[in-house]
Amino acid sequence: AARPVAVVGSFNQDFVWHVERFNAPGETQLGRFDTGPGGKGSNQAIACARLGAPTRFVAALGDDAIAAQARALFDAEGIDARIETHAQAMSGSAAILIDASAQNMIVVGAGANALLSSAHVEAERAAIESAAVLLTQHEVNPDATRRALEIAGAAGVLRIHNPAPTVVPAAAAPLDQVDVLTPNESEFADLLRAHAGLSLAADGLHALGDDDLHALCLRLPPPRIVLTLGARGAFVSDAGTGDAPAGRLRVPARPVVARDTTGAGDAFNAGLAVALAEGQPLDHAVHFATRVAALQVQREGAARGMPSRSEVEREWGIGNRDLGR
Ligand code: RIB
Ligand code: NA
Repeated sequence: AARPVAVVGSFNQDFVWHVERFNAPGETQLGRFDTGPGGKGSNQAIACARLGAPTRFVAALGDDAIAAQARALFDAEGIDARIETHAQAMSGSAAILIDASAQNMIVVGAGANALLSSAHVEAERAAIESAAVLLTQHEVNPDATRRALEIAGAAGVLRIHNPAPTVVPAAAAPLDQVDVLTPNESEFADLLRAHAGLSLAADGLHALGDDDLHALCLRLPPPRIVLTLGARGAFVSDAGTGDAPAGRLRVPARPVVARDTTGAGDAFNAGLAVALAEGQPLDHAVHFATRVAALQVQREGAARGMPSRSEVEREWGIGNRDLGR
């Protein structure tokens, strides 16, 4: 049955240019322009709602036209939004270039996201405490994120932390407050450097076997790590401190042709959160998450590309009670 998910995180208005190839320094070129809702927190909240979870979203906005649109969007998506308004800041924004091979380059203007306060999180603590899962990222004030994770931890709410983007100093990542950590390869390498003193090249990780990857995961505090590997799927490491025994497995990605991978990680995290909130085991939840991401990357737009629950079930022929393989 559907169980509530709380997301504490960012909203950005995405300004997107589709180009053949990325600019060289000093170069001007023409691109096809598009704009739409983005921001990791909001993308994840919208995906959770579309996947059927009652969704609460704790965030900060400016007092501008973007904020008004964002509020209308949250209403339209059926999201219970708990917004802190900062009139002195602009709402968050992101400039995104997408090339012909669906790679992207992103610059984020944090704006109000950086001002999300611990006091606001504290004021909305009931929204977190009554959820089955809390989902957080690295795109808002890290103190507010930490406070949310502490509140969830004290209430026994499962905490999924997506340590993205990588720009927050990796040493400040609140890893001691996380039940399930979901880095990509470069985020994983950064966290290993900052929290375990290990220097590994992110692009060397894919050469490692399962035993070596599992051993690296055990060097970080969270008991469960889901390492996302893009088109190569995900690696799951469980330290065995919960109900399940220690173990690791690989889950392949669905073979699809990507048009726009912006928000793919957000789709994955939302799928994981919704399935874990419903009580699915971690391996089933990861399979479900890879399916959500596979649908999202075939569509343009970060939040706009998020699939509904029925789309995921229709595409993969799975039922409510069978999220897994
Ligand atoms: O994860 C994708 C998101 O990252 C985009 O929507 C953009 O806003 C950036 O925050
Ligand atoms: Na997409």
